Amino acid sequence: LPAILLPRQRDRLRGQPACPIPQDQLPALVQAMPKAELHMHIEGSLEPELIFALAQRNGVTLSYPSVEALRAAYAFTDLQSFLDIYYAGASVLLTEQDFHDMAWAYFLKAKADNVVHSELFFDPQTHTDRGVPFEVVIKGLHSACERARTELGVSATLIMCFLRHLSEEAALETLEQSLPYRHLFIGVGLDSSERGHPPEKFARVFARCKELGLHLVAHAGEEGPPEYIINALDVLHVERIDHGVRCVEDPELVKRLARQGTALTVCPLSNIKLCVFQTMKEHNLKALLQHGLKVTINSDDPAYFGGYMNQNFLATFADLDLDATDAYTLARNSFEASFVSDTVKAGWIAQLDQTFARFASQG
Ligand code: ADE
Ligand code: ZN
Repeated sequence: LPAILLPRQRDRLRGQPACPIPQDQLPALVQAMPKAELHMHIEGSLEPELIFALAQRNGVTLSYPSVEALRAAYAFTDLQSFLDIYYAGASVLLTEQDFHDMAWAYFLKAKADNVVHSELFFDPQTHTDRGVPFEVVIKGLHSACERARTELGVSATLIMCFLRHLSEEAALETLEQSLPYRHLFIGVGLDSSERGHPPEKFARVFARCKELGLHLVAHAGEEGPPEYIINALDVLHVERIDHGVRCVEDPELVKRLARQGTALTVCPLSNIKLCVFQTMKEHNLKALLQHGLKVTINSDDPAYFGGYMNQNFLATFADLDLDATDAYTLARNSFEASFVSDTVKAGWIAQLDQTFARFASQG
């Protein structure tokens, strides 16, 4: 690599072949490159067709007459307007088989997009509050993760999220319920309605999770202010920030995130559907990259937001004028920010480098 590159530029290019890859190759490159997905709510992968199939299987009555009517209701104005319909959709999940089928459907999509590793969020309280035992939820999801590994070669782990609109006591109870299954999930997260439910509300439960050796992440700075990101870091001690796009409102925070190498799991199509940005052209993902932040691209709730991983990449690349170097950075970040061993990361990064070398040699 040329010696005159700044360290950040050198990092961006390390491992990447010198020969540039033309812009018209981007869709094929995005498809071919291995990648990890670090921000995907498994309940957000329930497609309307599967919601109706599960409703019929379980004798659940839906308040929409058809798949089309349900899909037509996916016109969100903010996070809460989405969450209301997302929790209603999850009401069809009752048995271990239901959870397995939902996750399996996602893994088929992930495989098609060349997602080689996925760290999936699940929301146990959405189900236990309806009388579905914790064991049913986690066993169904876990068996699908095992099947993804053996039948598809997709690696998958689970991250249990606490619903932040509920109390910390409820989160502590959920943690208690989860302890017999501690070996089946790798970390905890914090999701649901952000505004008015700051990270510090969950200080004790996150401290307990840290003692248990769980990985820690939290949604922050999606709709909430930069202070929520700061408190997720300083009070909850999270290792990644989910979304985090509002960090740009605090230049000192941006510098800190860049210095620390804290990953942001950004979800572009989600941000447009939930009106965090009005259009993709206004999305700040490119600016975040230019600030040297460890940005990743993810699908959040793909059944509701109009696209899985590669559609998130393509929509972003089309409107933000990103190039093959950015694609490399984003995919590499997804592995570096994942909760797997350094050896496993190195294996996937080597595969990524091979993909880019192949495209570069084709010119
Ligand atoms: N639960 C599912 N998707 C979410 C999102 N984008 N923000 C907060 N909670 C969520
Ligand atoms: Zn999310």
